[in-house]
Amino acid sequence: MPTLPPLPTFPATGGGQDVFYAWSDPVPRPLIVRAKGVRLWDGDGREYMDMSSGPVVSNIGHGNERVAEAMARQARELDYISVRQARSQPNLDLTARIATLAGPGFERVCLTSGGSEANECALKFLRWHALATGQPQRHKIITCYPSYHGGTFATLAMSGDDDVAPMIEGMIAPTIKVPAPLSYRPGANHTPTTYARHCAEALEAAILAAGPESVLAFFVEPVGGLATGCNVPPPEYFHAIRSICTRHGVALVFDEVLCGTGRTGKFLAAHHWPDALPDIVVMAKGLGSGYTPLGATLIPARMADRLSQGAGFGFFHTYSANPIACATALAVLDEYERLDVLANARGMGAHLREGLERLLAASSVVGDIRGLGMLMALEVVADKATKAPFPPDRPPLEPLKLAGLRNGLLIYGRRTSGGRNGDWIMVSPPLTMTREECDELLARLAATLREFEANLSL
Ligand SMILES: Cc1ncc(COP(=O)(O)O)c(C=O)c1O
Repeated sequence: MPTLPPLPTFPATGGGQDVFYAWSDPVPRPLIVRAKGVRLWDGDGREYMDMSSGPVVSNIGHGNERVAEAMARQARELDYISVRQARSQPNLDLTARIATLAGPGFERVCLTSGGSEANECALKFLRWHALATGQPQRHKIITCYPSYHGGTFATLAMSGDDDVAPMIEGMIAPTIKVPAPLSYRPGANHTPTTYARHCAEALEAAILAAGPESVLAFFVEPVGGLATGCNVPPPEYFHAIRSICTRHGVALVFDEVLCGTGRTGKFLAAHHWPDALPDIVVMAKGLGSGYTPLGATLIPARMADRLSQGAGFGFFHTYSANPIACATALAVLDEYERLDVLANARGMGAHLREGLERLLAASSVVGDIRGLGMLMALEVVADKATKAPFPPDRPPLEPLKLAGLRNGLLIYGRRTSGGRNGDWIMVSPPLTMTREECDELLARLAATLREFEANLSL
């Protein structure tokens, strides 16, 4: 069994982002020095598979030479201009490319430096639009519980996670919360479909209670990420929320920061439900695929141009539409095409799911596997029959991550609200993964779970 990298010692390491994290964290963070494809290596030559693409970011895998070349070329040609002062060709090309891939209804693309900022951009745009169209009373936002929308104050207030409540208390008002249509624990007397209907009804009830004319938008992750472990609502849910939002003049926003850019096998997750498209889509992560910080807010021309014909939409950060970031994302999207990444997300996603189904059947701790395309999660439970999560004093993710490191897997997992809704790990490797790599990953995961189970019974 390979030895683990040493635990960080403080303050001897003397810096790095991780000095801000809990010093008592028993899971070491290896010092990664090199990465290629689906693999990463630490300074001592230990090799790990990137089971989750980091936090579901590295869609085209690591160390892509073509992207690296495009970045260097752009840095030599034009490193920076401010979008306030001038235009750049990579910005024009990237926004046109995203709009084409997203299709009708998403003609205008506002670029940001990440997912939280792209959600803030959607919030600001909608508020400006409401003001410009004589609806200043529309200011209330509805989101799901549980959910995750980012780490800025506004997006923390949007996120449905009890653990953030003390942090934002008195600083910013939380958004109105409605239940997320969870499929694994839909509640007594419900199937996933009847529970999703109940959740859609709860949205309408919340709009009516708030006063429909005061509600600006409903933000939802169409396929869940870190807050629900890749929850996929039934199609009926999308049709229901679309017609509820339309009925009350509420903007429907899909937060596709994690599930967009091909993760689920289509460029937008929204494309799985073409009859229930949202008004706005927010994306990030896979768009830069780890090579550059980048996010995008996709807005229909009918709404954006209304503002541009008047006072405009004043969204600007110093690094908005940075030419190197745009050229990098263009090269990433070229790789999507060359490697037919969306087809692989569907095909290899099906193969991955089959392997996870086998783990589910064989394991006493795997309660559920769920997801879409190559956005999958595996939930571990204390009791498979009752679906009871691990109690707060027995969090399972640390021992699972340790077992992963020992078996050459870098594991990304999360529990929200103190584990009340469960504990899961993401199984979302790069979309370029081959069948052999997928089988190797599944074997390492099986060994990790066996080790975890064995330790539980000690
Ligand atoms: C659904 C969703 N929205 C927003 C964010 C925030 O994105 P970022 O970390 O790039 O700010 C995330 C990050 O995980 C996310 O999963």
